[in-house]
Amino acid sequence: MGELVKEIFYGSLSFYVFRGVYEPAEDTFLLARNLDVQEGERVMDVGTGCGILAILSAFKASWVLATDINPLAVRCARANAKRNGVLGKIDFLCGDLFGPLNRKPMFDLVLFNAPYLPMEEEPKELIDYAWHGGRSGRETINRFLSEVFDYLKYGGRILMVQSSLSNIEETLLALERKGFRAEITDEERFFFERIALIKAIKS
Ligand SMILES: C[S@@+](CC[C@H](N)C(=O)[O-])C[C@H]1O[C@@H](n2cnc3c(N)ncnc32)[C@H](O)[C@@H]1O
Repeated sequence: MGELVKEIFYGSLSFYVFRGVYEPAEDTFLLARNLDVQEGERVMDVGTGCGILAILSAFKASWVLATDINPLAVRCARANAKRNGVLGKIDFLCGDLFGPLNRKPMFDLVLFNAPYLPMEEEPKELIDYAWHGGRSGRETINRFLSEVFDYLKYGGRILMVQSSLSNIEETLLALERKGFRAEITDEERFFFERIALIKAIKS
């Protein structure tokens, strides 16, 4: 087991947060409260962190794939899946976005609470991947947007969270160009930024 830093609670569930793993925050909860997983769906949680969104999804989904570039996160998410009794429904892979998949499973829903802070320097520690969006803040988001279409069924959807610090309008436009119907369906406002929940449907 990794080094436990904290235990956090969401509804009746609890989750370990290991050292070096993103602690669920407002962005996580914005996505969590908008999760619309239907019975039997196949869900991918990109950048799963401590696994909270994958685990919440697993109660209804038939299968969840959770990935993270941070191996500490994958270990933490697996421990939380076991703790919450859904280990048998979730597969975990460590790697960059869709890179670790050796085939193209088609999902009903892809989740991404994306790293979005503009940063000049390369990530120094694994935890830095949680917010490191490259120089523009959009590097990981843009790569995600260029690949996600191929992993979704027609009628399938994306639920992603993004900050106004990395240009939400550009994401909406990129999604429309790729053949999605995209809109902001919820948001949180802070004095320095706005975080938006973007829902996009492949049509
Ligand atoms: C803001 S955190 C969200 C964690 C969790 N989903 C949540 O909502 O609490 C972003 C997560 O994405 C992961 N991540 C960042 N870049 C990634 C990439 N290129 N591929 C896969 N995961 C990535 C980070 O390691 C981190 O766990």
